[in-house]
Amino acid sequence: MLNVSLDLSNPCNLNCAYCFIEEKSSVRKLRRPDELTVEETMAILDDFAGAGARTVNLVGAGEPTIDPHFETIIDAITARHMTPVVFTNGLRFSTDHRLVRWLYQKNCTIVIKYNSSSAAVEDAIVGRSGYTRAREQAVELLRDAGFAGATPTRLGFDTVAFGANYAELPEIHRLARTRNIYPIIADYIPTGRTNHGLFDGNAAVDLLDDMTGDFVMSALQPLSALQRAALVRKLSEIDAALGVTRSADCAYYSGGRCTQLLGLYVDILGHIWPCVARQWRDQSVQLSPIGFWRDNDRPSLIWRSHPYLRHLRNTYTGACPYKNALRLS
Ligand SMILES: C[S@@+](CC[C@H](N)C(=O)[O-])C[C@H]1O[C@@H](n2cnc3c(N)ncnc32)[C@H](O)[C@@H]1O
Ligand code: SF4
Repeated sequence: MLNVSLDLSNPCNLNCAYCFIEEKSSVRKLRRPDELTVEETMAILDDFAGAGARTVNLVGAGEPTIDPHFETIIDAITARHMTPVVFTNGLRFSTDHRLVRWLYQKNCTIVIKYNSSSAAVEDAIVGRSGYTRAREQAVELLRDAGFAGATPTRLGFDTVAFGANYAELPEIHRLARTRNIYPIIADYIPTGRTNHGLFDGNAAVDLLDDMTGDFVMSALQPLSALQRAALVRKLSEIDAALGVTRSADCAYYSGGRCTQLLGLYVDILGHIWPCVARQWRDQSVQLSPIGFWRDNDRPSLIWRSHPYLRHLRNTYTGACPYKNALRLS
């Protein structure tokens, strides 16, 4: 079980209209009363480490860097000889240079949100004016600290593909590749505010003024089949010109293969899932976890014994089991 994923606290300093980790009926991301305690999180890390995990992805549930126990948990991961991979919107880094330097010393990898270089698009879809400028500062600080100076790199961009950023995705991909930043360009995870891979409005959009709400509704429409095929082709051409080899089956437009197969995901309430998508391949059993930490289920045991996980391992191609195929035809 090499690569596992864990939530930190649910609150967030943004409110992305497309957030897959929040329900459609929720206006904003707030703390949940029954979140895992820090002691439970430590015990889960012990279980992960005992099963051989090498990397721990801190994937949410909200913004990990504002969890009050963030630094304690990073320390606990490194103390157990695992590498922390922090998925973040980067807002805190733009003002907290100490934290950036500290995370570098702790051997962290950082994956930062990068949907658009246009503030008009990014600020609207994340629900916070001034975010894009702060994110750019954060990227520069992370590069200055050396995160993109390592081999393999310790800096990634996580980009969600949608109508309003479609035309700039090749440039984001090229920018990442030429700066030793790992690119992740992906379709919607089919859950939460983008259930079934669609964007058809939610309570967070209703919160916006009419004009911004209308803009966000049209900006976040998923790519058409033609756009999807053209994007795979275009990014493959960029990679070929740069000498980057891609596998035929990818989970991301940017060429990466699915790595969720190498572990499990434990959410902030202690539910254990095969993947952050919180689905099984057979969508009739969508939204049912495969275990619950507080019922004494242990990820290490489920990993070895669960038939669905064995099935995933036996049918693995590198593609995402829950989204449309991204095969270069
Ligand atoms: C859930 S967030 C949590 C970490 C942090 N708050 C952030 O946004 O980077 C982790 C990553 O998932 C991405 N994400 C959020 N909603 C998504 C969706 N509906 N489909 C695909 N990716 C999504 C975010 O943009 C982010 O890069
Ligand atoms: S995607 Fe990340 S930054 Fe945006 S609302 Fe969700 S948790 Fe917060």
